[in-house]
Amino acid sequence: MAAENQTPPVLEARALGKTLGGNRVLDAVSLALPKGCVKVLIGPSGAGKSTLLQCLNFLIPPDSGSILLEGREVNARSRRELCSLRQQVGMIFQDFNLFDHLSAMENVRVALMKVKGMSKLDAGELALAELSRVGLLDKAALYPANLSGGQKQRVAIARALAMDPKVMLLDEPTSALDPELIGEVLAVIRDLAQNGMTMIIATHQISFSASLADEFLFMEKGRVIESGSPAELLRRDSGSRTLAFCAKISELSGEAGEAGLAAGLGESVRAGVSVGAAGLGAESPV
Ligand SMILES: Nc1ncnc2c1ncn2[C@@H]1O[C@H](COP(=O)(O)OP(=O)(O)O)[C@@H](O)[C@H]1O
Ligand SMILES: [Mg+2]
Repeated sequence: MAAENQTPPVLEARALGKTLGGNRVLDAVSLALPKGCVKVLIGPSGAGKSTLLQCLNFLIPPDSGSILLEGREVNARSRRELCSLRQQVGMIFQDFNLFDHLSAMENVRVALMKVKGMSKLDAGELALAELSRVGLLDKAALYPANLSGGQKQRVAIARALAMDPKVMLLDEPTSALDPELIGEVLAVIRDLAQNGMTMIIATHQISFSASLADEFLFMEKGRVIESGSPAELLRRDSGSRTLAFCAKISELSGEAGEAGLAAGLGESVRAGVSVGAAGLGAESPV
């Protein structure tokens, strides 16, 4: 009768299906995000990762299947329920989605005023606190045009966090960034994970993900075809599709060798898992 065992996942998808332009983009995808877990979606371009993430908060309505927030099925026909879902499920996009005509502080403040109905004064105070959390207090007055890509993404994260979400969906949060700016965003994501935020992240940052994720989900052609702990899937002799894919993207990024992944894998490596024959190690560990 342990109460903990009965706690439903924060977010769950059951048999999501989506067809777009005649393509079966999602084919009965199910997943569950228990509280505090970090799951990482990997897979080739066109696999359906972005569609899946957007179906999870009905930015794209799935054709079939259901979404459950803390064990309760979301009724997609209720505007009120969708609104409430989107407040509780934070979303981070590759291209930041900031308002260009608003400063960093105003980008966060406007969300608090519009979505949470806060007063301008209270929203402004909280906005500054959220920017401080991502290390951007000194950039609060700057407009997106005067922020680096990494800073813009951190503002977007601050804006999402200001809503006090129960779970965060991150769609390739560092893909649009110059390599030297990726680290600052990954550091914020790592901090979130260490503070217990429930997250699902689509990313090609394999070393980073391996050091953070409870589970890798490998997607191809609209289906999750492999899932497991990074240590399990990336083990040299795993023979997994995940390993083959990760080796390929590491190779393409121009850095071969075991060091990067080994550094990223951290715990797994210390636990005696051997990795690396496939030449993994694309990114600098954060
Ligand atoms: N609006 C659309 N109309 C038709 N096909 C689409 C549309 N949006 C996405 N697709 C297709 O759905 C597939 C999955 O896309 P996406 O979810 O963006 O994949 P990923 O994020 O893994 O790269 C791709 O084949 C893409 O071309
Ligand atoms: Mg995508």
